[in-house]
Amino acid sequence: MTVIAIGADHAGYFMKEDLKAWLIGQGHQVLDFGTQSLESVDYPDFASLVSDAVTSRAATRGVLICGTGMGMAMAANKFGGVRAAVCLDQHMARMSREHNDANVLALGARLTEGPRAREILGAWLDTPFAGGRHVRRVEKLMALEHGHAPAR
Ligand code: RB5
Repeated sequence: MTVIAIGADHAGYFMKEDLKAWLIGQGHQVLDFGTQSLESVDYPDFASLVSDAVTSRAATRGVLICGTGMGMAMAANKFGGVRAAVCLDQHMARMSREHNDANVLALGARLTEGPRAREILGAWLDTPFAGGRHVRRVEKLMALEHGHAPAR
């Protein structure tokens, strides 16, 4: 079982509800950080809540949904320790895990149909980080949070 933090703005509300039910059905624990209606809200607020849950380790992974996934990913990637990836298909989802060790998945509810979103999320959750040469690259990626990459 994985603890998954999930959040959405108004554009992603219905997809969040659908994915939350699907995740629970798959045996995961879900921390739902909202939004809880179709009322217009601001995506950085929900990206912040989910990112905090991931970086504090209250959740193992995060899922964020807005219209395109892009605003959510941009906001989440401002948080130290977050590697958020917008994924439009299962291949992107697998690569974001295998190569980038993504810990937050960003989905676009206006770009991706519900059943496809479940497939993307399933692939993302099932794919481990490949390690090997990717460890060095992810370390360099994370070092950019401190303004430089290690020379090697
Ligand atoms: C809301 O209209 C929309 O801007 C938002 O959901 C998201 O797509 C931003 O990146």
